[in-house]
Amino acid sequence: MSTAAAAAGRGRLVVLISGNGSNLQALLDAGLPVVAVVSNRKAAFGLERAARAGVPTAYAPLKPYTDAGRSRRDYDADLADVVARYEPDLVVLAGWMHVLSSAFLDRFPLRVVNLHPALPGTFPGAHAIADALAAHAAGRIERTGIMVHLVPDEGVDDGPVLATVEVPIEPGDTLDTLAERMHTEEHRLLVEAVTRLLADRQR
Ligand code: GRF
Repeated sequence: MSTAAAAAGRGRLVVLISGNGSNLQALLDAGLPVVAVVSNRKAAFGLERAARAGVPTAYAPLKPYTDAGRSRRDYDADLADVVARYEPDLVVLAGWMHVLSSAFLDRFPLRVVNLHPALPGTFPGAHAIADALAAHAAGRIERTGIMVHLVPDEGVDDGPVLATVEVPIEPGDTLDTLAERMHTEEHRLLVEAVTRLLADRQR
């Protein structure tokens, strides 16, 4: 095991997901210390991946809050309580489809990491890969990419960049072919960035 991986193995990661959880799987497969997985969607397959790996899970839906007329900040504050119980060194947003307010972020300063399938400053939001493909079709870009960044505030898919990789868009790419290439790259980049960040924190 490399020195970085050994140091990273001593940290504690809480991973927030909303869906498939292939990036969570990449973290688990790399042997990174995932101590809990939290989902805002009950049907998220990532919860199944966590259970198979023996990692504790929590389900934290927003709907009871909106139904009761309570604010997203209330939800975020309670979500922070759930996450804090696991005493994370880092909170990794891996396909987490909910913009977090300062009611959450201020509880984990410089410790929330997001993965986004676009290069810094391009295509924020939930449709980044489709948006990049459309921009390519319009002749505006030749490549897109992935970034891993810190989440200091409520800016969407924005914050100090930890790692990036460019991904070329090939002639004839469809959403499926481009998304598949992107996912392969993001699994590798997320593992690399989180390993390095955990190791840096242990120094
Ligand atoms: C990834 O493309 C991630 O970059 C984006 O949502 C997707 C989640 O995929 N934020 P998965 O749930 O990790 O498979």
